[in-house]
Amino acid sequence: MKSPELFARASSVLPGGVNSPVRRFSPMPFYTSLAKGSKILTEDGAWLIDYCLAYGPLIFGHAPEFLVEAVSEQIKEGSVYGTPHKSEVELAEEVVRSIPSVSMVRFVNSGGEAAMNAVRLARAFTGRVKIVKFDGCYHGAVDPLLVDRAGDADGNVNGIGLIPLSRGVPPNVLKDTIVLPFNNIDSLNIVNEEVAAVIVEPVMGNAGLVLPEREFLRALREVCTSVGALLVFDEVITGFRVLKGGAQQFYGVSPDLTILGKILGGGFPIGALGGKKEIMELIAPCGNVFNAGTFNGNPVSMVAGLSVLRRLNDVVYSALDSATGRLCTGFEEILEDAGIPSQVNRLGSIFTVFFSERQVRDKNTAKASRSEVFSALHRELMARGVFFPPSQFECCFMSVVHTDEDVSNTLEKFSLAVEAIKRGGIVQCL
Ligand SMILES: Cc1ncc(COP(=O)(O)O)c(C=O)c1O
Repeated sequence: MKSPELFARASSVLPGGVNSPVRRFSPMPFYTSLAKGSKILTEDGAWLIDYCLAYGPLIFGHAPEFLVEAVSEQIKEGSVYGTPHKSEVELAEEVVRSIPSVSMVRFVNSGGEAAMNAVRLARAFTGRVKIVKFDGCYHGAVDPLLVDRAGDADGNVNGIGLIPLSRGVPPNVLKDTIVLPFNNIDSLNIVNEEVAAVIVEPVMGNAGLVLPEREFLRALREVCTSVGALLVFDEVITGFRVLKGGAQQFYGVSPDLTILGKILGGGFPIGALGGKKEIMELIAPCGNVFNAGTFNGNPVSMVAGLSVLRRLNDVVYSALDSATGRLCTGFEEILEDAGIPSQVNRLGSIFTVFFSERQVRDKNTAKASRSEVFSALHRELMARGVFFPPSQFECCFMSVVHTDEDVSNTLEKFSLAVEAIKRGGIVQCL
């Protein structure tokens, strides 16, 4: 069955024909029939080199043999027990070994759930209610964090000057959220003794890829320590992606709590909250901060995560870095030759192509880039067998199984796509 027919059927039974908004793009999404290695096959018979990679979890690409075997074996032995079991202990130990700031972990089922629990835990630990987040950072569909700044105005305290990112978020839930601009050390002077937690994506991945200044992350650590607030790093994207110890290892800044997801589950649903023992021991049944879940620590996600984490090491990260470097340098050369102002932001195997003359360093500079040119690029690439995430504000990812040939093919198609965009007159050149 082809995508148009599936989309028509889906539209009457799934809101917007999809199960997550970014999957819906113009004129209609394609439906995937299978995925293997670096590629996905659409219901229309097209193979696409995949740089979306399910928005981050698939560092070894789609359906690697070792993962299929591990998960198949586990399913024969049970998919969910409702009791403790060995692989959750092993995965927790692997996380603790990989991330020095984490000495205990609670497994949940999504990054958003982990973020929601991080807020609750930080409030319980500190006895305070205010939380600070950063403009453009996303932490899952969590009411008090589903909010950004309405503009450049400073009046973003007590719910004033904020825009909820969803209808249905009650205004009183936002009155305790403060939203500050990313990469702006001066704005941190608002963080005081009323703040329970400062929560941040240490590398912003939800405005496209936006890199932090190391000094900014250091300043976050300092201010949290000085006012007694918890520093929470949301490493749902960067955890096990940037390095085995995440962005905190790369930048050398240690948070109090870490939120994980994506790669941790090896392609199966997962989220995790980890941190210092004295904070984590407040979680029930050890303490009285409530968290529970039928599928928490389910053996399929645990085994999948273990099989992936055990294969991650410096050699893997270095290979990923060089392959992605070659790809992104190629993009920069093609765009420069075409005279199209652009910025390619990259960290290891994560990257975003922005169409802008200015460095992209926060949400406002990301939003000022020409996302209509990105949409045209996305369309032209897809027509030639390359799949980037459809939104300018999502990151692209490389996997270990993207080959040199994939990279060369992608650069060839990218060049053709850029020519097509120029011919279409969508972009002004230098
Ligand atoms: C940084 C970050 N935090 C949290 C989440 C939410 O994770 P999940 O989709 O598993 O709820 C995401 C999702 O993309 C994310 O990028």
